[in-house]
Amino acid sequence: MIGNLNHVAIVVPDLEEGARTYRGTLGANVSDPIDLPEHGVTTVFVNLPNTKIELLHPLGENSPIAGFLAKNPSGGMHHVCYEVDDIIAARDRLEADGMRVLGDGEPKIGAHNKPVLFLHPKDFMGTLVELEQV
Ligand code: CO
Repeated sequence: MIGNLNHVAIVVPDLEEGARTYRGTLGANVSDPIDLPEHGVTTVFVNLPNTKIELLHPLGENSPIAGFLAKNPSGGMHHVCYEVDDIIAARDRLEADGMRVLGDGEPKIGAHNKPVLFLHPKDFMGTLVELEQV
């Protein structure tokens, strides 16, 4: 059902330092910071040949990642995102298997303007999973 790994998201306390580490130390292709106010994050995209890393930093007062950064002040891996062809079919299959979809279970438009859903980390070995329809 799942296809390519679309991205791994890492919450960072300092975006500039994170970008510098990936661009300089690791020699990756790194974007400038992009504010995504509707998602409450500022993102730096690290473009790797086969996938992306997204460095996330809270933006605004009600950022969904503010609590994560408070609990993990030096940052940490936040979620992995897998691609699916049909997000409704994927959701229905997962729910039929007893997996918990976060929120109201309806896909939202994600940071790439594609429908996304998040799955409960306790159902996936402690890892928050995002599904994105491509
Ligand atoms: Co994501």
